[in-house]
Amino acid sequence: MTSLSDARPLDTVADFPAIPAGWAYLDTAATAQKPQAVIDAIARGYAQDYATVHRGVYQRSADMTVAYEAVRRRVAGFIGAQADEIVFVRGATEGINLVAQCWAGTQLRAGDRILLSALEHHSNIVPWQMVAERVGAAIDVVPLTPDHRIDLDAMEQMLRPEHKLVALAHVSNVLGSVLDARRAADLAHRVGAKILIDGCQAVPRLPVDVVKLNADYYVFSAHKLYGPTGIGVLWARAELLDAMPPYQGGGSMIDRVTFERTTYAPPPTRFEAGTPHIVGVLGLDAAIDYVETIGLERIHAHEAALVHRARAGLSGLNSVRLFGPDDSAGIVSFAVEGVHPHDIGTILDEGQVAIRAGHHCAQPLMSLLGVPATARASFGVYNSPADVDALVRGIERVTRIFG
Ligand SMILES: Cc1ncc(COP(=O)(O)O)c(C=O)c1O
Repeated sequence: MTSLSDARPLDTVADFPAIPAGWAYLDTAATAQKPQAVIDAIARGYAQDYATVHRGVYQRSADMTVAYEAVRRRVAGFIGAQADEIVFVRGATEGINLVAQCWAGTQLRAGDRILLSALEHHSNIVPWQMVAERVGAAIDVVPLTPDHRIDLDAMEQMLRPEHKLVALAHVSNVLGSVLDARRAADLAHRVGAKILIDGCQAVPRLPVDVVKLNADYYVFSAHKLYGPTGIGVLWARAELLDAMPPYQGGGSMIDRVTFERTTYAPPPTRFEAGTPHIVGVLGLDAAIDYVETIGLERIHAHEAALVHRARAGLSGLNSVRLFGPDDSAGIVSFAVEGVHPHDIGTILDEGQVAIRAGHHCAQPLMSLLGVPATARASFGVYNSPADVDALVRGIERVTRIFG
């Protein structure tokens, strides 16, 4: 991986028409801004090439089907998978719900256990609670290390044969801590559990190879990867997809329908009921093109340099408390003593700095940190050291205003 000292500013901000000069957009972990190439691909999809997929006998539809299925292969290549293991979903949330309903909902029994971590996003908590309640399974929670990583030594001690599933964030959306996903997968497999990795915050900032990670399921959302909303990816090992019943019923996912009996298409089609988000898939393709052209190793080094600068600048202010490890990936959460994060966000906004303030859909983590909310700055390819300096100046102003 490129080292911090190799990091050069990427100078990509001109690719992003929605970022005006002087605006520091530091909320990429919520959703990334879109490069012109993605906007163009979406516009072309609707304005020039538009037609349905998988059904039309006319040439335009056949061409669109070819383009749509080519993206499946593209996504597979992007994460080291096979094309028929890629299911297009609405986003990471839907991907996790699909696995919870179709795999856990049919495989787990009363007395089985699911292992999550203390830093998970609600999307990687609530679907498991829903299925656990239905089947009578229990949920255990892996604690964090003092520097706010998922404590894999503790996980090793906790894992028992009753654990049938482990579901962990590859990169925390609050703390930026990076999971040693390979070790987590090996530990899970040692007791016979499957592992789902929530890659929402990892895929935009780290090279990912699901086979090298030894994962069973991996999910991510296109909109955090500079692509459109409403489209995401579930990857699962082929044998797991083969064994899973469908998620939703409808058009496309069938083999043959009669009133007596319906048979289903093989995966991944079995899991894609209804007309898909055709142009969203084309937008995802352009987004992958965009990040691959820059290179994920460069993106990672660029964001690491920004995190380093932010943590150094903020830690120099004595009322600031930083969360997460020093080597967090692209995300820095913090609190300013005596100031609510919403006030921090409002004051920063006056200085053209956009951060997120809130619980970040991780209320159990907020309880663990002992705060109702945090302020969070998260970086993307378009950010520069000047954006970080604007953040630090804004926090200095916050501390002056609140004395
Ligand atoms: C770590 C993590 N997991 C899951 C999600 C849910 O993603 P989406 O809302 O795109 O489905 C998010 C979004 O914030 C996230 O950061």
